[in-house]
Amino acid sequence: MTIAKCARRLTNLAHEWLLGISTRGFAPAENRLGVHYATADYADIKCILWELNLKPTDVLVDIGSGKGRVVCLAARRRLQRVVGVEYSRSLSDLARVNVARLRGRRTPIDLQTIAAEDYDYSDATALHLFNPFEAEILDTVLRKVRHDRGDRPVRIAFMMESPAQKTVFEIHTWLRCDRRWTDRAGHTVSLYSGGSD
Ligand SMILES: C[S@@+](CC[C@H](N)C(=O)[O-])C[C@H]1O[C@@H](n2cnc3c(N)ncnc32)[C@H](O)[C@@H]1O
Repeated sequence: MTIAKCARRLTNLAHEWLLGISTRGFAPAENRLGVHYATADYADIKCILWELNLKPTDVLVDIGSGKGRVVCLAARRRLQRVVGVEYSRSLSDLARVNVARLRGRRTPIDLQTIAAEDYDYSDATALHLFNPFEAEILDTVLRKVRHDRGDRPVRIAFMMESPAQKTVFEIHTWLRCDRRWTDRAGHTVSLYSGGSD
């Protein structure tokens, strides 16, 4: 293991201890086009939350929220609401334990055990996705977001974007890419925004 990777692991462990939660590890995908559970480094998630420019009026939805790392970290900020959307019952149950244990929460957390394709995004102003599913489902979910939000603004952060997923975003011409960068773990992260104020 490189020194950099070792340092990232130690930083993640320190964050888990600080927040009082346990979100590490892997879990296999539970449907054909879903991606297995894994989570990103705390430092990279913090960077994305900062780039999303979150305000106290925002409702942030983590689509494919797994064990709740992003949800817990975001809820330590002052927002209107943080929502975790996760279709796996077992991962949602682990997220509930983490939310109950979370230290320093400043925002209400709502965990929904539901497929992202079926969630109602009407009041979601910011979305976070860490590569939860393949392009086909991404397209369905973006259509649902557009349908539920109409022309109201939404910002989207997508972590670990593949070329196929990037193509889906390009088809959704109501969204524009504001920024794209590579995080410390080598994932492509893209920030999109759409709708009007
Ligand atoms: C790579 S993990 C990301 C977990 C979390 N967002 C994080 O960053 O810590 C992707 C998650 O998406 C979930 N997922 C996959 N397909 C889904 C779907 N159609 N609806 C809701 N959740 C889904 C998986 O069960 C998994 O927990």
